[in-house]
Amino acid sequence: MKITSTGLLALSSLLPLALGQSQLYGQCGGIGWSGATTCVSGATCTVVNAYYSQCLPSSASSSTPPPTSTSSTGTGTTTSSAPGSTGTTTPVAGNPFEGYEIYLSPYYANEVANAVTQISDPTTAAAAATVANIPTFIWLDQVAKVPSLGTYLADASSKQQSEGKNYLVQIVVYDLPDRDCAALASNGEFSIADNGEADYHNYIDQIVAQIKQYPDVRVVAVIEPDSLANLVTNLSVPKCANAQTTYLECVTYAMQQLSAVGVIMYLDAGHAGWLGWPANLSPAAQLFTSLYSNAGSPSGVRGLATNVANYNALVATTPDPITQGDPNYDEMLYIEALAPMLGSGFPAHFIVDQGRSGVQDIRQQWGDWCNVLGAGFGTRPTTNTGSSLIDSIVWVKPGGECDGTSNTSSPRYDAHCGLPDATPNAPEAGTWFQAYFETLVEKANPPL
Ligand SMILES: *[C@@H]1O[C@H](CO)[C@@H](O)[C@H](O)[C@H]1NC(C)=O
Ligand SMILES: *[C@@H]1O[C@H](CO)[C@@H](O)[C@H](O)[C@H]1NC(C)=O
Repeated sequence: MKITSTGLLALSSLLPLALGQSQLYGQCGGIGWSGATTCVSGATCTVVNAYYSQCLPSSASSSTPPPTSTSSTGTGTTTSSAPGSTGTTTPVAGNPFEGYEIYLSPYYANEVANAVTQISDPTTAAAAATVANIPTFIWLDQVAKVPSLGTYLADASSKQQSEGKNYLVQIVVYDLPDRDCAALASNGEFSIADNGEADYHNYIDQIVAQIKQYPDVRVVAVIEPDSLANLVTNLSVPKCANAQTTYLECVTYAMQQLSAVGVIMYLDAGHAGWLGWPANLSPAAQLFTSLYSNAGSPSGVRGLATNVANYNALVATTPDPITQGDPNYDEMLYIEALAPMLGSGFPAHFIVDQGRSGVQDIRQQWGDWCNVLGAGFGTRPTTNTGSSLIDSIVWVKPGGECDGTSNTSSPRYDAHCGLPDATPNAPEAGTWFQAYFETLVEKANPPL
């Protein structure tokens, strides 16, 4: 029998109080939960994460489409419809991006400069060269990269003094033990079984030590892409279930220690096609809220980052057909749906990656995230975001750095990188992918 979710919702709205049962998609357990632990008919109480059990449709009884996710990096495309035109242009109070010059990563500038020398068409080469002036985030994805942060902070500090401007350095904290637990392409250097938690603390301590030396430079950080979203939807993957406690402990440590040296943080919150599905919104909100309050509400936590390394539009002109069934078919809708669910004083401010969202409707499935074919650079970083919830549009993923190899013999091969909508001949994750960069340049929207 096919039961529509509308029917279940209508029924459940009458019953929960009377029967002490939770409604479809309602909470039915988790640390600190004192409400009903059983679900209305047609739904089963399912453990989502340590903080949240949820009434999900009993198998095959619901018309609600299954949530989809992308694991490491983005999928999607954006037709960027001028965000500034759709909402308020009033700067968000306390917006850490306001009044700051964003430090350009010399590492990325160098990658771009090298890439330009390989482009023979002068028009394309000139357009490509301008990408070096667009700020991206610095990924501290190995402990060996942490000392470079000190170099950049010193550089930003001296620029700040010579130019009389305030500088902001953007980093990604990305080195959890058993990283990328639901995919293969971005496996990290630390393992839970081999001292991973202590290694991670040491990694954070080294970042803190660098930042402490330059209290005059503002640091904005995205915290651990994909990790918390994996705890919301991927605990059925043994590696994720095994990593749950460690991820929570390590992210707590990062929030507390980085907050103590003034870092402004956005926890990674997946994207509209992952946590934006109605079934995932409440468990996600609960996870972020509990994690934050259990950490002592660190003052450096400013909010959440969405669409990191993904391809979704901030505002889609029309829903991409692959988003069908998810009312939150773009990042703006996702953010507007998630924000009111965040509780306990969790700061509902957002940044949204649009670096590779210039072209929309290019994926075959919403969960496709690897070097999506035909992607173009998207809306430039700006605080003119069209929403009082969004501090800034950012480019977190440095466009041109590969999402994952298409070499099926590589130990880090992930099948997503071999799909028909993934760009072929891709090198290992994080290394330069020249052909991909050139497409991003050619298809940039707005044009470079
Ligand atoms: C992770 O969860 C998402 C969302 O439910 C799902 O689409 C994806 O297949 C999962 N990944 C794995 C490896 O199970
Ligand atoms: C693919 O990966 C295998 C195993 O790491 C390696 O030996 C081989 O050279 C790679 N092929 C290419 C084309 O890079």
